[in-house]
Amino acid sequence: MIFITIDRSKSISLTQQIYDQVRNGILEKQLKEGEKLPSSRELAGSIGVSRNIVLEAYERLIAEGYLEVRPNSGTFVAQGTSLSFIERTKRIDAPRKMTENQTYIDFKAGNPAIDYFPRKKWAQLTKEICLHSTEAVFGYGDASGMKELKDALVVYLKRVRGVQCRAEQIFITSGATQGLKLITEMLGKDNKAIAVEDPVTDEMRNIFTFANADIIPVPVDENGIDPNGLPKQAPSFVFVIPSHQFPLGGILSIQRRLQLIEYAQKMNCYIVEDDYDSEFTYEGAPVPSIQGIAPNHVIYVGTFSKILSPGLRIGYVILPEELVDSFEKIKWFSDRHTSSLEQLVLAHFIREGYLDRHVRKMKKIYKEKRERLVAAIQQNFHNATIIGKSAGMHLVVEIPGIDFHSALIHKMEQFGVKVYPIEQYSLEKGKHKERIVMGYGGLSLEEMEKGVHLLRRMLEENGKAFFNGKTI
Ligand SMILES: Cc1ncc(COP(=O)(O)O)c(C=O)c1O
Repeated sequence: MIFITIDRSKSISLTQQIYDQVRNGILEKQLKEGEKLPSSRELAGSIGVSRNIVLEAYERLIAEGYLEVRPNSGTFVAQGTSLSFIERTKRIDAPRKMTENQTYIDFKAGNPAIDYFPRKKWAQLTKEICLHSTEAVFGYGDASGMKELKDALVVYLKRVRGVQCRAEQIFITSGATQGLKLITEMLGKDNKAIAVEDPVTDEMRNIFTFANADIIPVPVDENGIDPNGLPKQAPSFVFVIPSHQFPLGGILSIQRRLQLIEYAQKMNCYIVEDDYDSEFTYEGAPVPSIQGIAPNHVIYVGTFSKILSPGLRIGYVILPEELVDSFEKIKWFSDRHTSSLEQLVLAHFIREGYLDRHVRKMKKIYKEKRERLVAAIQQNFHNATIIGKSAGMHLVVEIPGIDFHSALIHKMEQFGVKVYPIEQYSLEKGKHKERIVMGYGGLSLEEMEKGVHLLRRMLEENGKAFFNGKTI
């Protein structure tokens, strides 16, 4: 038995506090397998919270497999929870150590909350698949990937993103990174020009540059790429992130989507749609993919790096039929195929509804993180504007009067906080000097709040040097 305590002065939600204590109790073996937990009513009464709060914490623990409900008996610690392979990842509450002599809270975008990876379910499925699959699974497979995963994706992507495709058009890749690298190689043979959103994530743009492409920047505003800025000469493809542009966070309007498709038809080029974190939309319904409107003109790229874990290295590319044969060769010569076992585990994870459950859970977590970060920014910087839609794992802040140039960013690191200026992602310099990206996916609530506080203190202390004399 463990004693659960609640601290209302903490910035952690009451549900999270109960969840953490029960989960840690199980992992640290203070709560034994098969041990009965107090009923939600009893626990709520003894710690002085509403029953719904306890129920929510229990539901999360049940969904993750730590607890199980036995009809007419109660809630128990589930079997198998004390196996040695479940190691607890420590939540890092102190600033992260980045180099030998430097510590800072890192607002790097695109880092998901990996401490929530569904280890137990994944381990269970891996064991089952490893023991019960046919021998063929352990030999070479198809370059395009495992049929089970492609079939699961056809259904899942149609339902959540409106994607229209047959399993034969899908290639499982080692993340979106490999997908984009191979697309660039395939389409770059005849035409090296690629129209790219500006600003855009340097990680993706560097893939194109590395492949010797000619980058043609196309301006982006708060509503995504501006089709009026597309080049007059046909590129091999236009690279867009329409569901939550990185970094500016805009969602491409339907009018612009149609203009983009018209452009691709007229120029006889492709649209490469990177849909990397579209599951996480916190207001309104997610806008369906462009691929669903124009499947013959769009190459759709997705990844499990954000919704599950970047360590899995599983992404996918969905191609118009005429590109399937070329892509098959290029993928085979690159790495033959992506790990079959891992693909089968993922296929089961999707088919049996665990992915939907995980996404629902993570959406709540990221939404709370975002709200807390927005609140901290607004409390500390009264004239700050938050830019971009309420989605994903990052937001953009504009603080009028502050030029976030590299010397300031460097000084902030020494002060204990790292943020990312939009200028770093821009090809045309000088348009976004007062804007920074702040990623919140992988940070705890405490880290975020501390980070914003440090940012303010640093700017106050160095106000004269960096600040144009306005009040924040
Ligand atoms: C725009 C964008 N798409 C996709 C990804 C994911 O890449 P991968 O699937 O290779 O991990 C990232 C990673 O940060 C990204 O910034």
